[in-house]
Amino acid sequence: MDREENRSSYYRTLRRQFMAIILFIAFVPLVLLSGTIYYHYSRTVKEKIRNELKNVAENRKSTIDLFLKDRAINLGVLAHTHSFDYLRDRKNLDVVFQLLKRVDSAFVDLGVIDGNGLQVAYIGAYALEGKDYSSAGWFQSVMRNKEVYISDVFPGFRKVPHFVIAIKRVEAGRPWILRATIDTETINHFMSTALLGKRGNAYILNREGVYQICGRDPGRVLNKSDFKIPPLFSGINEEEKYGPQGEPALYAMAWLKNNDWLMVIEQNLKDELGPMIHVKNIVLAIFAVSSLIIIFSTVLITRRVIGRLEEIDRERSKLTNQLVHADKLASIGRLATGIAHEINNPLAVIAEKAGWMEDLLSEGDIKKDPNYSELLKATQDIKKHVNRGKKVTHRLLGFARRMEMVYEEIDLNSTLDETVYFLEREARFRNIDIIKEYQDSLPRIFSDGAQLQQVFLNMFNNAIDAIEKNGKILISTKSVHGDIQVSIADTGPGIPGENLERLFDPFYTTKPVNKGTGLGLSISYGIIKNLGGQIKVESEVGKGTTFHIILPKHFQQPAISG
Ligand SMILES: Nc1ncnc2c1ncn2[C@@H]1O[C@H](COP(=O)(O)OP(=O)(O)OP(=O)(O)O)[C@@H](O)[C@H]1O
Ligand SMILES: [Mg+2]
Repeated sequence: MDREENRSSYYRTLRRQFMAIILFIAFVPLVLLSGTIYYHYSRTVKEKIRNELKNVAENRKSTIDLFLKDRAINLGVLAHTHSFDYLRDRKNLDVVFQLLKRVDSAFVDLGVIDGNGLQVAYIGAYALEGKDYSSAGWFQSVMRNKEVYISDVFPGFRKVPHFVIAIKRVEAGRPWILRATIDTETINHFMSTALLGKRGNAYILNREGVYQICGRDPGRVLNKSDFKIPPLFSGINEEEKYGPQGEPALYAMAWLKNNDWLMVIEQNLKDELGPMIHVKNIVLAIFAVSSLIIIFSTVLITRRVIGRLEEIDRERSKLTNQLVHADKLASIGRLATGIAHEINNPLAVIAEKAGWMEDLLSEGDIKKDPNYSELLKATQDIKKHVNRGKKVTHRLLGFARRMEMVYEEIDLNSTLDETVYFLEREARFRNIDIIKEYQDSLPRIFSDGAQLQQVFLNMFNNAIDAIEKNGKILISTKSVHGDIQVSIADTGPGIPGENLERLFDPFYTTKPVNKGTGLGLSISYGIIKNLGGQIKVESEVGKGTTFHIILPKHFQQPAISG
């Protein structure tokens, strides 16, 4: 039982190890493959997104820079082709303004400012003529060192965001300024076409982080943004960080307008990673399905393989047990017959001497001896026990002598009939019914009839001994899968489970000393083994016992000899 438990736990561990190894071998490449595919795919997609973003940013930067430059050039051409005196005349300024507006609708108004900051002429929606700009920062910086000045965005009188371009000209040592207001609409348009995805944004900030242009939410213009203004750089800068909605975003930045404005194009990564999420889901689905298949087949294969191993092991160990048992029986048999032979001679001498003593006791005066009857009893006891000893030694020697098999064609039904014949009287006397259920035309077998008779006789004797009185013995024969099975069932008391294991051991008997030797079943076992068959026993305490003897139809090669 313990060995069975050990074996089961060993195979349980083996099954677990086997499963773990197969799962490991199968899962490692699967995980690596899925991971690599996903990693490379996401890298490629991100690279593509980055490149697209960079292109958009580059494109917008050059468009806006070009736009501002164009406006400044247009205004510059005007300032350099017309004199201060000419332009300070409102009529002339109006003609020039109308011409300018015709080629460039972004211009909202036009003004001429003298060297003291006084607007001497103005064409536009408001009465700004005579306005003094002398204290305005932009005026002072233009006067000091700048030829061209482009302002930040401001609401102005119209409360519409716009900015200003001012061109300084020096005419006969006297500086003056041509100043125009530009509508931000065109730049707004450029930036709103750079809105990427559903949540992307595109805006322009000044160096203080104030929105100049805002693509997604124009209402934010002139408000301060939370965006951290980076130090100056040239070209396009990219950065990946968490956006205002707390989601990962890609940023492309560029300095515009001579490093005054920072253009920011923000792209929400989740918007763009839709296809990647799709691929991720596909990879995960493939992974899940493959995992299920792997787990299912691993469990199945492991069960099959380990189950088969366990079965083979069990069969092998059963066979080994049987071989060991048979070998044990054979060795004990050899030993016992050796001893029997040795004991036989002294027994014969003792028997002869006991007989001689008996003869002596029957003569003359000894009969009168007061110990005569005791002596006679003792002599008879000696003879009786010597006879018992002889019975055992004869049985052992008989078995040993009959180890050589004599094969012949046998009809088992008639062999059984012949054997039962010896016991019918005894059975009748004890009121035991012998019922025969033979299969008609039972295939004949090739075996040793005399040895089989010895086996059957012992079985019947055991059955009769077990029943004692009033009962039944059922003898049946049938052909099973090409073998022949003889079953002898009795209605005796049955054999308790703990005795079943020892049943075939030599000298195991429950019968009184004079009655049984305990050799019957062990000899029967040896004989049936030698004839290539097997004996099985089924017993239930209180109901009876059945012995099944299964014999092959053809058997030439004895499995165990000796
Ligand atoms: N049909 C049976 N019903 C109940 N017990 C049985 C039966 N057959 C055998 N046994 C038990 O098995 C024991 C061993 O039987 P076995 O034939 O080997 O020896 P034995 O019958 O005791 O002695 P021997 O065969 O020399 O007369 C018996 O003593 C008996 O206890
Ligand atoms: Mg017996």
